[in-house]
Amino acid sequence: MAKFDFSNRDSFGTKIGVIAAAAGSAVGLGNIWRFPYVAGENGGAAFLIIYVLSIIAIGMPVMLSEFAIGRMAQRNAFGAFRKLAPRRPWYLIGVMGILGAFMILSFYSTVAGWTLEYLSDSITNSFAGKSAQELTQSFQTFQSSGWHPVIWQVIFMILTAGIVVSGVEKGIEKYAKVLMPILLVLIFAMVIRSVTLPGSSEGLAFLFAPDFSKLNASVILQALGQAFFSLSIGMGVLITYGSYINKKDNIGNSAAAISLTDTLIAIFAGIAIFPAVFAFNIDPKAGPELVFITLPNIFNQMPAGYFFSILFFLLLVIAALTSSISVLEVVVAFLTEQLNWHRRKATVIAATVITITGIICTMSQGPWDNIRLFGLNVFEILDWTSANLLLPLGGFFIVIFAGWFLNKNQIKEELTNNGTTRAMLLGAYVFIIRFVAPIVIALIFLFGLGVFG
Ligand code: PHE
Repeated sequence: MAKFDFSNRDSFGTKIGVIAAAAGSAVGLGNIWRFPYVAGENGGAAFLIIYVLSIIAIGMPVMLSEFAIGRMAQRNAFGAFRKLAPRRPWYLIGVMGILGAFMILSFYSTVAGWTLEYLSDSITNSFAGKSAQELTQSFQTFQSSGWHPVIWQVIFMILTAGIVVSGVEKGIEKYAKVLMPILLVLIFAMVIRSVTLPGSSEGLAFLFAPDFSKLNASVILQALGQAFFSLSIGMGVLITYGSYINKKDNIGNSAAAISLTDTLIAIFAGIAIFPAVFAFNIDPKAGPELVFITLPNIFNQMPAGYFFSILFFLLLVIAALTSSISVLEVVVAFLTEQLNWHRRKATVIAATVITITGIICTMSQGPWDNIRLFGLNVFEILDWTSANLLLPLGGFFIVIFAGWFLNKNQIKEELTNNGTTRAMLLGAYVFIIRFVAPIVIALIFLFGLGVFG
């Protein structure tokens, strides 16, 4: 079999393009759909505090380690470990990442399909005049209706595959750069509407006034899982993207900028959602439907709500796309570089398989809801296990690899671009990836899963 020509790999064109693409991966449904729903189920403010701590103490160091590994190796998530640790089993991290990509994109494309339906509903102005109850009802009817959401899911997967086929610079980077900033401005407008609704203060208290009696091991595990999911870490997305980063870029600064953007957007999304949740008497524990039943209420109360809703759902679809392409890219980079498949073939086959598992997920929210394991349907299992098990486990091995397998000079050279730039807090970073992150992840894991009761 012919070998892939590594001298001819794709790369990001500009520094800002890298940040935009990686931030595009990080910012997505995880921030706007998953963060509010998981925070709502886990008590709000106390969850938020653990979430932010997880981002700073664990998430950022894992992200930086992924960038360093990817850029050092110039390979996909599987090939990177093969190259840096030949004949050792570290490549299994890459295998886990590829498995994770299939799991995550399956349910991610379900939810992304819902956003397409909501975009189309906004255009036809179908939220107008409906009460909070009617809006809840119509979401539930739609998402459990089987083939209707499946059609949107398939459309979403075709869009994702279409961008990935065009490659890194012309596909991924081009879209991310323009669209991310607009999303930020729009969320800000919704924040303003939400906090000025009558009765909104209860929602702000829910998000910002911590009640630590609500903390338990499961809440902490889910906050850690959400941090991993939201930052796109633990499954090789950022190893893959790191391998496309220019050798002159400062990856430490990039990791900090991306994490900050991602966290701010999640918090903004929370400030946009929770005041409205309380103002409209919606249950904060409503689960995955929370955002979909809350947002249309806000638009109904906004001047020019019609236009805002179209723009918002359009941008949400795009935010979902810049994330889903990064997940698919993990698999495609693996297939093209390791098996030397053509990019088009790799994309079509990977996307087709994911679409099929994705359809099972979508159907499990409706007609196939009775197929359950531990009381959870297929969608819920994939959502829960990928964020709370697979990603933290991947992150655990990634920091161990960067902290203990690679030697300190290798890491230092990668972070300082061979001594040409300064890497702030290098000592703290090494200490975290060697000791703090692995120990904390392991403890949260064992307590959260009830191993230590
Ligand atoms: N971080 C993305 C989001 O918040 C989802 C994602 C998870 C992307 C894992 C890549 C890997 O929507």
